[in-house]
Amino acid sequence: MQTPAEQRTAEQRTILVTCPKALPPFLRAELEALGLPARELAAGVETLGDMHTAMRLNLALRTGHRVLSELARFRADDPTALGRELFRLPWEEIIPVDGHLTVDSSVQNDFVNDSRFANQKAKDAIVDRIQEQEGRRPNSGPDPIGACVFLHWRGSDVTVYLDTTGAPLTRRGYRKMPHLAPLQESLAAGIILATRFDAATEHFLSPMCGSGTLAIEAALLGLGRAPGLLRPDFAFRHLIGFDEAAYEALRRELHAQAKKTLPRRILASDNDPEAVEAARQNARTAGVEDHIEFSVADFRETLVPEGPGVCVLNPEYGERMGDAGQLAETYAAIGDFFKKRLSGWRGYVFTGNAELAKRVGLKPKRRTPFYNAKIECRLLEFELYQGSRRQPKDNGGSGAALL
Ligand SMILES: C[S@@+](CC[C@H](N)C(=O)[O-])C[C@H]1O[C@@H](n2cnc3c(N)ncnc32)[C@H](O)[C@@H]1O
Repeated sequence: MQTPAEQRTAEQRTILVTCPKALPPFLRAELEALGLPARELAAGVETLGDMHTAMRLNLALRTGHRVLSELARFRADDPTALGRELFRLPWEEIIPVDGHLTVDSSVQNDFVNDSRFANQKAKDAIVDRIQEQEGRRPNSGPDPIGACVFLHWRGSDVTVYLDTTGAPLTRRGYRKMPHLAPLQESLAAGIILATRFDAATEHFLSPMCGSGTLAIEAALLGLGRAPGLLRPDFAFRHLIGFDEAAYEALRRELHAQAKKTLPRRILASDNDPEAVEAARQNARTAGVEDHIEFSVADFRETLVPEGPGVCVLNPEYGERMGDAGQLAETYAAIGDFFKKRLSGWRGYVFTGNAELAKRVGLKPKRRTPFYNAKIECRLLEFELYQGSRRQPKDNGGSGAALL
């Protein structure tokens, strides 16, 4: 099979979509669903496309963070060489002189031990080039409010990308009320994709909803709404040649593809009334408040519609909040809740604490690895099948195997 780079046509460039570790399989599936070739990397997926493809990816992707369009590759053995090579590129055809430039980088070599130094060197070379050609230079700074350039520098090998995104895509713009320990939106989307939630036939239950990220992402996914439609801005809008008409047409196309209603229910609850209020407000900002039923409840008492459905619990796991001792009881209660109330559902626990996970007392059918910031986590899947299948003793209503 050809790699994306080998399939390139004249107008196409390599596009690298970055994402957190463990999300590449879900990101690859998203790209393939859009009909694009996709090659998984450790923290991203490589594909091919032009600026229109980059715009579509920015609007549509749920698990990607930045859409980087490759501009140039060269070798540089020190910061002076980096500046010299960058100065050769026709930046005056890419970045408006009255615009704003942000340079970011990932650097691993012996020449630079602080990537901010590489950013500074690169920024100087780019604005000097524009100054030479145009007689003026764009503003610059670390806030990604205009055009963005990204450098990947490994040893002597430099790849220069146009970062078409700016602030990462995980910042959808709906989370004005973060509440405690929220999941990143892209991670929440990855978790839901890992559950294989089918909004046409299944309910979605988030009984420890916190700021509502899982329920909101489930609603966006179920409705087929492109999350990027919520964002006011992307870096590609600040490049010379930005095609406003094509962008608006793409937005209209994606709007038109979204469903208006969900056939099944999405329920979000938490025992903290402030969390439920935050979740409700975030859902309103995301435009999905009408598709989620909110309530204040202990998870053991939460409303469970008749299945099938997907229930995802993201309890504290003692790293950032809560206390592992007290949490053991909560995890054991989750096992009881699954067995007694979720017969016919798939139950999931997302946690970064393997010891606490054992307290659930059921044998997971599947363990999917994820990272929450730097913490290695697992999404544990429990199949809570109804009575007809194997029923170990004392497991209440459903047939999940005991540990
Ligand atoms: C780690 S946070 C969930 C964060 C959420 N995934 C988000 O993205 O915002 C855990 C949540 O569980 C809630 N919680 C803890 N014990 C609970 C219980 N017994 N019943 C219901 N909710 C509970 C907390 O109030 C907190 O909002």
